Amino acid sequence: MKTVVYTKYGPPEVLQLIEQDQPRPNEKEVLIKVHATTVNRTDCAFRKADPFINRFFTGLFSPNINVLGSEFAGEVVAIGAAVKTFKIGDRVFGLSCDKMGAHAEYLCLPESGSMTQMPANWSYAEAAAISEGHWFAWTNLRRVNIQKGQRILINGATGSIGSSCLQLCKHFGAAITAVCGTKDMELIKSLGAEVVIDYTKEDFTKSGGSYDFVFDAVGKSTFGQCKKLLKSNGIYCSTELGPYWQNPFYALWTNWFDAKKVIFPIPKDSKEDIIFFKKLAEAGAIRALIDRTYSLEEIAEAYRYVEKGQKVGSVVVKVT
Ligand SMILES: NC(=O)c1ccc[n+]([C@@H]2O[C@H](COP(=O)([O-])OP(=O)(O)OC[C@H]3O[C@@H](n4cnc5c(N)ncnc54)[C@H](OP(=O)(O)O)[C@@H]3O)[C@@H](O)[C@H]2O)c1
Repeated sequence: MKTVVYTKYGPPEVLQLIEQDQPRPNEKEVLIKVHATTVNRTDCAFRKADPFINRFFTGLFSPNINVLGSEFAGEVVAIGAAVKTFKIGDRVFGLSCDKMGAHAEYLCLPESGSMTQMPANWSYAEAAAISEGHWFAWTNLRRVNIQKGQRILINGATGSIGSSCLQLCKHFGAAITAVCGTKDMELIKSLGAEVVIDYTKEDFTKSGGSYDFVFDAVGKSTFGQCKKLLKSNGIYCSTELGPYWQNPFYALWTNWFDAKKVIFPIPKDSKEDIIFFKKLAEAGAIRALIDRTYSLEEIAEAYRYVEKGQKVGSVVVKVT
């Protein structure tokens, strides 16, 4: 099978498209023929080992996972003897966060993994692009106990995580202020933002307001800058560690010593979350935003584009 491997950290040139043996499912696993995957910021961070702290999870000197790709959509082509909830021919989608491996023609995952059957009317590309952004966004929204009527500010509402957060907040009835660039303001309004701030013209940290939750989905701000935007018991979250890797520390500190909190939840993927996203998508509450599509042969180009930090939603790689 065609597989994109990397054996050392570095730029997109470290990626090699090679032929490898197809994996074989054990009795509790399913074998998926991957039709579509994505290149996301997690793939980029793993490939570059940037931030450096990633190396404590992915291998200090060289990567201990050699095939990246966390999001996938494809068809079940073989199942282990004990598998009960999937059958050959099922169209499935989900996340493979622990072992990655979706940048390949075939992927083996446990039946209990973070995946479920696709709705009939979805394309593989749409299904591959729905999971990661919503998962990160939901990890945070669940922590803040998102409620109808809450006031939320989302910075970077066009990214995969930001656009997912926006759609989830809209679904829960929050009042949303979203920050994005000029060209995407109409899109962001159409996804449910009541107020849109153009970051190329206005600094949202100086825009005033009184929010229950400020979510910097592109990690460009600090708690210090955003604290004044929060209600007295408001919560701040960033998807990045912060310029001094301070956000996890702030999460601990504010938990004890400040009425305004910082959260930095460690995401843990689950089948329940994927099923939840599927139900929301079937109900029309959320959808995948796809910026560009590449072939597996063009995957290094996909990485270069994602690393520019300008994608709107997700970048899909068609595998089959
Ligand atoms: N904590 C984690 O485990 C984790 C996991 C995955 C990703 N991340 C981080 O999460 C962040 C978001 O990733 P993503 O894939 O959702 O999106 P992304 O690719 O980082 O976001 C791209 C979008 O952000 C917009 N943007 C860029 N600079 C901005 C600014 N200063 N203000 C407002 N919008 C801005 C861009 O719009 P323009 O083109 O108009 O500039 C573009 O549409 C990244 O920083 C990534 O490293 C964290």
